[in-house]
Amino acid sequence: MAGKNLGDIAAVNAKYYSSKGKAIYSDFSTFAQGSALATANAIGFVSDFEGTGNEIIVCEYGIGNGNFARVFLGELSSRSPELYARTRYHLFDISEKMISDAKKNLATHTSICEFCIFDAAQELPSMPFDYCRINELLSDLPAEIYMRRNGGIFAPDGKAVPHPPLFAAKFLERIERERQIPFSFVAQEFLSALCGCGKEGFRADIFDYGFYTADDIFSMPVDEWNRLVARTYGTQITVDLNFLQLSSAIAAQGFSALVEQQKGYCERALGMPLAFSDEGGKLDYAPKKENDGIEEDDGFYHLRIEG
Ligand SMILES: C[S@@+](CC[C@H](N)C(=O)[O-])C[C@H]1O[C@@H](n2cnc3c(N)ncnc32)[C@H](O)[C@@H]1O
Repeated sequence: MAGKNLGDIAAVNAKYYSSKGKAIYSDFSTFAQGSALATANAIGFVSDFEGTGNEIIVCEYGIGNGNFARVFLGELSSRSPELYARTRYHLFDISEKMISDAKKNLATHTSICEFCIFDAAQELPSMPFDYCRINELLSDLPAEIYMRRNGGIFAPDGKAVPHPPLFAAKFLERIERERQIPFSFVAQEFLSALCGCGKEGFRADIFDYGFYTADDIFSMPVDEWNRLVARTYGTQITVDLNFLQLSSAIAAQGFSALVEQQKGYCERALGMPLAFSDEGGKLDYAPKKENDGIEEDDGFYHLRIEG
């Protein structure tokens, strides 16, 4: 994205999602449109909460057309009718249009669903929950991008940043000059508040694209990395999520925060090797066939937080 101006990402994305609703899926697809990820979540949810006896509160933020919730709740109702019956599912999104589209998609689950307008770029979560699931919301929140140059820290527009956040300054000490690194401070604050309202023993599964390993960062030449780190789909701006920052911030708060590749998470839950699939334009994982060959890492990660 040439001449990155991420200052108004919140306003740009709010406008995009509010006007588009479910039509976003003509600009891009997500793993919430397939079934592997939501099915893996349902399997994990049943294993974590079946037989616990109480009402279980689930929260989902950034709900899209409701498909992520629909597949999850469909799987849950067939795998554990007793857990389904005591699950209350709360869906939060910035876009009224999206909420109205999702309501239609979730018509068979109306009795256990509650919808709420919520802006994760301006507000902090306050709903107590047992389980939270989020797909591709945090990479839509405002991010700050910094790089090292001539012994100082600079923004992508070439302006010096005299007082960068301490975490960013320390992080950049290990990065070569001119490589632009996104820092997800708004997402960090969101997650920190989220963990603060989790009930005892809460679980959160957060999925997004971004970077976590040194290999993710350094395997790409600087110019190409800088060009791809923030992107537009339609008019929406999205920025790679800094999973190193998020997991270390959550761990410093005293919670367990584990990051793994999203595909590996799905393979473990579904008990089979998987391959990337985009049949019918929907991102998904399908059972791996013999001739699928070796796949590269897809850049999608799973952050698991436990309270
Ligand atoms: C990339 S879409 C992902 C949708 C869905 N989770 C999926 O994976 O298909 C981002 C979703 O987050 C919502 N969203 C974007 N910015 C938001 C914000 N600041 N606060 C709350 N929701 C937001 C959008 O309306 C949209 O539903």
